[in-house]
Formats: sequence, structure tokens, C-alpha cells
Amino acid sequence: KCFIFLMIRFLLENISAKKLAEYKCDTNEAICLKLVRFPEDVDDDSTTFHPEYSHQLFGDDEVAFGYKGLQMKIFYTAGNLSTLFKVKYSSKVTDTFDCVEPDDVGGKIREIIPAGFTSSTDDFISLLEKEAKFKPFGTLLHSYTIHNEEAGELTYQIHKADITCPGFQEYHERLQTFLMWFIETASFIDTDDDRWDYFLVFEKYNKDGETLYATVGYMTVYNYYVYPDKTRPRVSQMLILPPFQGEGHGSQLLEAIHRFYCSLPKVQDITAEDPSENYVKLRDYVLSKLCQNLPSFAADKLPLGFSADMIKEAQEKLKINKKHARRVYEILRLRATDMSDEDQVKAYRLEVKKRLFGPYRKNQRELAKMKKCLRPEELVSHMGQMDTQTQQEELEKSYQHAVEDYRRIIERLASHA
Ligand SMILES: CC(C)(COP(=O)(O)OP(=O)(O)OC[C@H]1O[C@@H](n2cnc3c(N)ncnc32)[C@H](O)[C@@H]1OP(=O)(O)O)[C@@H](O)C(=O)NCCC(=O)NCCS
Repeated sequence: KCFIFLMIRFLLENISAKKLAEYKCDTNEAICLKLVRFPEDVDDDSTTFHPEYSHQLFGDDEVAFGYKGLQMKIFYTAGNLSTLFKVKYSSKVTDTFDCVEPDDVGGKIREIIPAGFTSSTDDFISLLEKEAKFKPFGTLLHSYTIHNEEAGELTYQIHKADITCPGFQEYHERLQTFLMWFIETASFIDTDDDRWDYFLVFEKYNKDGETLYATVGYMTVYNYYVYPDKTRPRVSQMLILPPFQGEGHGSQLLEAIHRFYCSLPKVQDITAEDPSENYVKLRDYVLSKLCQNLPSFAADKLPLGFSADMIKEAQEKLKINKKHARRVYEILRLRATDMSDEDQVKAYRLEVKKRLFGPYRKNQRELAKMKKCLRPEELVSHMGQMDTQTQQEELEKSYQHAVEDYRRIIERLASHA
């Protein structure tokens, strides 16, 4: 009897666990984002995009519990980013029947989207009419065109804004919500601090014969103080909204801010806060493009090594920091290396490995120190971590990885020359 009872209990628990599992939703899929220009965009699924991350709100599993067919719509008007927020689902667990409560998904989203959003699609559509009044904030720094296969020649503008621009603070609060979905470790900045600079990218588009502006992306830069009278702008967040990625806007923005800071004598050089791999790729490309025309980086100077002239010229003329200039040198030297000439290839390999070897050399010094003070059996356990063979293999891997990245940048320099 006892066995049958346990079996029934086990089966019932199993059934209810399975049933509850059906009420789990992947929050990256459930969150639907959209930038709306025309009323018909609202129901056009082809313009919807989804977060890459939602762990900051929904935990490491990026799962919401309690709903079937969950959809959290966060739609923005294309320019001003006026927001529609709506939660939809086909069914929900209830505390009476399922003895569990669903997650408060609306509450979690409202933690990051500023008040003032609407939940009515009709109200949102009527907000689209106000978009004609939306004008980019701040001063125009740079304008460029990109050819689009469907739309033809499109014009973009980069503006520098500050928090005192009327309406900008509220606009920035809406804009920064995107960071949560596309930057893994994003956090919001303290806009009361006046050391922040804001750079914004807009696309000009036509609606009923009028020119309107759509938000494309942005960058925040913090002006650090450097003793005694300099500043070191540090790129903090950079985001090109997903529908615009891979079209060259990121490079235009980074180049524009370099050109802007170059014109300020008090700026020492430009750095970045905790840069992602994608950001480093972008920066390598932009800085190589800028440095390739400097005399100290000329093809005949590159085989002579990374020189003081390169450091000085990159810093003085382009506000490029020494570490970044070193990478540019390696990229441009690879481009100038004749790959059929064994001596040139070997010299290049040694040069890059010398830089990469820095951290390994430190390891070896530590090992030498340990040898003096550890007992033989303790030494054996540390030897595994420090094994020179492994270090050589790691070094070779890092070298191959660097060269692969550099090759892609060289290709890009050639295709956008
Ligand atoms: C990283 C990021 C800022 C880059 O912006 P972007 O506008 O996509 O950058 P670009 O378009 O200039 O370059 C990206 C790629 O598009 C390609 N590209 C550039 N111009 C192009 C064009 N006109 N047509 C087609 N492709 C182009 C580039 O070759 C590049 O390719 P690669 O990645 O193989 O090198 C953007 O992807 C982003 O916001 N990502 C999420 C947030 C993030 O990671 N931010 C950085 C750290 S804070």
C-alpha cells in the first residue's frame, strides 16, 4: 500500500513539475523591441528585435516563470523614443489552482523604463505625429552618407549633447534602457556629474515630405582629470541600436569623437572603460585608418620597430594612447609584411610575441622565486600551472588569434579605402 501511495505521489509531482515547466519563458525571446517610424510598423513583425541579454532583470537563466506565450512589448518612437510598454500572454499560473505565483514581469521592466510610457497602442500611434517636432540635441559634429540598397543614399548626423539641453535628460533615460539588453555588464550613469559627454547618431528620413530624425546609437564619455592640467576622456558606453549595426555607424562615431577631442589641447589621450572584444575590433580599425597616414607609420618605418616617434605622433596628433598605438603598429606592419619572405615573417612573429610574452615572463619570474622557497612536493603542484611547454602553446595561440583579428582589420581597411 505504502509503495502504491509513494508511486502515485511521485507521478503527481512529476506531472505538476512538467505542467509548471510549460510556464517558463525565455525572456530574451519574450521581450520584443521596436523602433517605430510609421503606424504600420507596429504590427510588422519583421522590424521587431530582441535583447541579447536580460540577465540583469531576470537572473542568469534569463527565464520568467508563470506565463505561457509571454510577450513583453517595448516599442519606441524612432526619434524621441516615446515608449509603449505592454505585457501579453496566453495563460498564466494562478495561486489558487497551481499554488504558485507568477513572476512580476511588468514590475521588473518598470524598474528600468522611465515613467511616462503608455500602455495604449492608440496613444502610442498618436505620439508618432509629434515625431516631426523632434530635433537632434546639441551641436552637429559630423555628417555622412551611407548607401542603402533599398532606400538609396541616407544621411546621418553625429551630435554632441550635454545634460543641460532641454529635454535631453528625459530622452537619455529612455535611450539608456537599451544598454540592459545589449551590453552584458551595463549600468546606468550618474547624469548629475557634469564630466560626462554625450555623442548621438541620428538618421535623417522623409515622412510625408518632411525631414524627421531617427535615433541610431550613442556613446557616453567621462572626462577624467589628469595631473596637472589635462583630461583623459574615457569611453564608457557605446551602443549602435541593432537595426543599424554592421553599416559603419560605430566606426563613424568613434572616428568623430577622436576628431572632436583632438581639437581640445587639454586632452591627453582617449581610453575606454572595460572594453568588449567588439569594441576593441572597432577601435583597432578606426585607429589604424587614422594612423596609416602619419609619417611615423609609413611603410618603410614599420620594419624598424615600434618607435618613440610613433607614440609621440599618435598621441599628439590623434590623442591615441601608447597601448593602442602599439596595436596599430602591429596591424600596419602586418599589412606591410611580405608573407612570401621568410625573414620578414619571422621578424614580425618575434615582434608580436615579444609583446605577448610580457605576462608569461612574469609567470616565469614567479616560478623562479617559488623554486627558492617551496618544498619539492609543493613545487610540483605549481609546476603544472607554469609549465613552459604550455606557456609556449598558449603564446602561439594568442599570436594566431591576434593575427587573425589583424587580417580582418586589414581587409576592412582595403574595402573601405
Ligand atoms: C560594437 C558596436 C558599437 C559596433 O557598431 P557597428 O555600427 O555595428 O560597427 P561598424 O558597422 O562600424 O562595424 C561592424 C562591422 O560591420 C562591417 N561594416 C562596416 N561598414 C559597413 C558597411 N558600410 N556595410 C556593411 N558592413 C559594414 C564592418 O566591417 C564590421 O565588421 P567586423 O565586425 O567583421 O569587423 C555595435 O555592434 C554595438 O553597439 N554592439 C552592442 C554593444 C557593444 O558591444 N558596445 C561596445 C562596448 S560598450
